[in-house]
Amino acid sequence: MKTFNSLDEYLALGLRNRWHPVLSSWEIEANPVGITRLGENLVLWRDDAGDVHALEDRCPHRGARLSLGWNLGNKVACWYHGVEVDKTGTVVDVPAVSNCPLEGQSCVRSYPVQELNGAIFVWFGLEDGQEPTPLELPEQLASKEWSSFLCIADWKVNYQYAVDNVMDPMHGTFLHSTSHSMSEGDKQSDMEFNRTKNGFIFEKTGQKGVNFDWVEYGDTGSPWLRLSIPYKKSFGPGGVFWIVGFATPIDEHHTRVFFWRCREVQGWQRNTWRFLYRTHLEKLHWDVLEQDRIILENMAPNAQTQEFLYQHDVGLARLRRIFQKEGKKQFTQLQALQASKASS
Ligand code: FES
Ligand SMILES: [Fe+2]
Repeated sequence: MKTFNSLDEYLALGLRNRWHPVLSSWEIEANPVGITRLGENLVLWRDDAGDVHALEDRCPHRGARLSLGWNLGNKVACWYHGVEVDKTGTVVDVPAVSNCPLEGQSCVRSYPVQELNGAIFVWFGLEDGQEPTPLELPEQLASKEWSSFLCIADWKVNYQYAVDNVMDPMHGTFLHSTSHSMSEGDKQSDMEFNRTKNGFIFEKTGQKGVNFDWVEYGDTGSPWLRLSIPYKKSFGPGGVFWIVGFATPIDEHHTRVFFWRCREVQGWQRNTWRFLYRTHLEKLHWDVLEQDRIILENMAPNAQTQEFLYQHDVGLARLRRIFQKEGKKQFTQLQALQASKASS
């Protein structure tokens, strides 16, 4: 892994020792896929059984990107000279040379992978070979009682701004005021902060069930954000509409956001909601996300270093502190690991 010079530099690429969604399931078909997440290059591919594997995207021979090569099921082959690497990161064949000493070497980092609810989650540890922590997704994604659509987008902004944006419910009434479900309610409100088992809720005091009135942060093996927005009857069965979101760093300046739009509906009502969403609601949701994207991609340079926060920003300020605290712990551990490697 790269070396970081400061905690800020470290945090700019996200928290580790966590699962992060990296791709939607539909993005991995027959060929290997090369991506950058948390500043690291990864290759992912699906084997014959449909299971997804992830390795560092670097051929151990001379460093070509393995994602440009071939999917051979239980292994990938480099396009450049055909070296084959299995899912554990071990070289299993060097076709150009007989008895090559590179064969049998385990020299490519491998990443634990889980495919859940239409997305690929990868565990990013501080070093290779660490045992991943368990991942528990919010019930909107984990329970069969719920039905959801995954929407992904890549934004030209550091993930910390994308997280701040969700932690700020008050922007709904302004930025999204012309949008279908967010025109209601007070333009002024007091906000309060309440702890939960895995994080906290930041909510309007008094107003509930009218607009984007609360947001929750949770960390259950992966850091997520959750909120709900009331829906009018004309938006079909399922009642309140929920969003569960993740902001996965691509690199210092880019983020992939994952937003699941969820409703608790079963049976024929589920079909009605899914039909309505596809034919009518999805477009409206993209409009809302576009408003967020435009604001975030055009923030002042280094906006976070020159801001004047007020009471509505307590939620994002708290979350920044949580990230700072955990980031500091990880950064110190990583420095110790890297120092002991350098001296051995
Ligand atoms: S660089 Fe991959 S086989 Fe040579
Ligand atoms: Fe928004």
